[in-house]
Amino acid sequence: MAKLDKDSLANTFLIAVFLCLVCSVVVSSMAVALKPIQKLNKELDQKKNILRAAGMLPADQNVSADGRSIEELFAEFTVRAVDLQTGEYVDGIDVASYDPIRAASDASKSVALTPSEDIATLRRRENVSLVYLKTTATGIEKIVMPVRGYGLWGTLYGYLALDGDLNTIAGLGFYQHKETPGLGGEVDNSKWKAGWQGVRLFNDMGQPQVRLVKQRSASTSEAASYEVDALSGATFTTKGVENMVNYWTGDGGFGAYLKRLKSNGLAQG
Ligand SMILES: Cc1cc2nc3c(=O)[nH]c(=O)nc-3n(C[C@H](O)[C@H](O)[C@H](O)COP(=O)(O)O)c2cc1C
Repeated sequence: MAKLDKDSLANTFLIAVFLCLVCSVVVSSMAVALKPIQKLNKELDQKKNILRAAGMLPADQNVSADGRSIEELFAEFTVRAVDLQTGEYVDGIDVASYDPIRAASDASKSVALTPSEDIATLRRRENVSLVYLKTTATGIEKIVMPVRGYGLWGTLYGYLALDGDLNTIAGLGFYQHKETPGLGGEVDNSKWKAGWQGVRLFNDMGQPQVRLVKQRSASTSEAASYEVDALSGATFTTKGVENMVNYWTGDGGFGAYLKRLKSNGLAQG
């Protein structure tokens, strides 16, 4: 029998192919095995962001002030699918797997926006979105809505929370954006985010009026109740955030739904 030449080209090639095969099997198995953990982590992160926007989870903490976990806190929320055109709930949608952002890129599940409608630079808006509701015996205590809008470098994705009166902002937070750290990236600054709490959303005509301003109006004026500090050196991000909040709470976004809740007497206060 011919002796195997370990240093031959064929042998080197065979060993290289064998090693590649072993490595690809190991990497693929790891990817498959870790997928459920990645999915769980993504879901946990989403819950964390919703709770933070609602002011129920302190920044950089994974438990509430009274020691409750993310899962425990999130269990207080009901998730519903909402038809943004009619403001009615949509049954028959699996809210755990439904992705409004993905729906927005599907022409059969979204609408194209005209330039005058598209103040948040979305191009398309999904027909159905999700809402996260925390309710009590007397009505809604908190409502959290997914929002997005273009800043300077890309789309900012986040959650906007309202108090039970459906007219006061409880919080705003972003989980993804491309703005510059120190400039537009200050949207993540907890001090700036705290400035959203208690801001009034709608005027007496039911139109969203939030303004991000460099100079505040007199504190006694009505205008001051709609104002949040602009981000310094980040005019584009600032305008993007202002447009985003007004878009998603207006008729193009959750406006019809919020009006329906109010007319059904579900708003508190
Ligand atoms: C490297 C670089 C990054 C910037 N990043 C942002 C940003 O994230 N958001 C923003 O609105 N402006 C950003 N700007 C600034 C804008 O180009 C523009 O100058 C600014 O929005 C003007 O804001 P001001 O009127 O408050 O000074 C950046 C500028 C540079 C040079």
